[in-house]
Amino acid sequence: MIERRPIGIFDSGIGGLTVARAINDLLPNESLLYFGDTAHLPYGEKSPELIRRYSSRITQHLVESGCKAIVVACNSASSNAIESIVKAAGPNMPVIDMVTPVIRSISAEDGCQSVGLIGTRATIASGLYGETMNQLNSNITLVSRATPLLASAIEEGFFNDSIPGAVLEAYFADDSFKNIDSMILGCTHYPLVRENVQALLPKGVNVIDSTKIIAQELKRVLTENAYPYTPEHKFQVSDLTENFRCSAHYFFGSDINLEEVSFS
Ligand code: DGL
Repeated sequence: MIERRPIGIFDSGIGGLTVARAINDLLPNESLLYFGDTAHLPYGEKSPELIRRYSSRITQHLVESGCKAIVVACNSASSNAIESIVKAAGPNMPVIDMVTPVIRSISAEDGCQSVGLIGTRATIASGLYGETMNQLNSNITLVSRATPLLASAIEEGFFNDSIPGAVLEAYFADDSFKNIDSMILGCTHYPLVRENVQALLPKGVNVIDSTKIIAQELKRVLTENAYPYTPEHKFQVSDLTENFRCSAHYFFGSDINLEEVSFS
């Protein structure tokens, strides 16, 4: 039987479209229901309590909308609210976060010894990447740094110019990343400035594309449709702004229809 229920994907706003894009590329027969909580962004500057409250409510919305799996396409929500999200999703709902699959994909056997992480304040302050690394790869060191200005700059449309490079240069100035062999882009916006990050790191550092790893993990968890059919995507936001409308295709890779949805 063809399973037509959509995959629920959520983020604080626009950044999770980079994850939705990777999922759409890998699983083109799956319908997506994307929710961007634009009324409450940025999550990266919010308290864990607030991130948990918003994330649980959105999860409930995605479950009520008939989704068959939930992808938490936001590092700040994955790092601070995963337990509340799993609880809100209910017992039989697969939930995929941004942290565990990425840490699981890193291995000391591949020569990895020291990994860098950049992300929002909320992501770095949670310490979840480090905890997960200790559990799954205790012999690999994690060096992390909050780069809060970067997501705002990208959100403002500064990603095809010198601004992200200048922002990153300021954050990397203390040389904390000089001995790393891999770098995790721990924020949904950062794939848009991947080249700027790569250019400032020592030669040969592997900049990890979390979006592809999350899409692979989803594929592993789902039994993919046996027969192709035309999928139907929906993109919802809690506050539809002109900036979101103009920037969405840079993040998703093609034009999308947006709908504003507010919870009562
Ligand atoms: N999507 C968020 C994340 O990946 C970044 C934007 C925000 O702070 O809301 O952490």
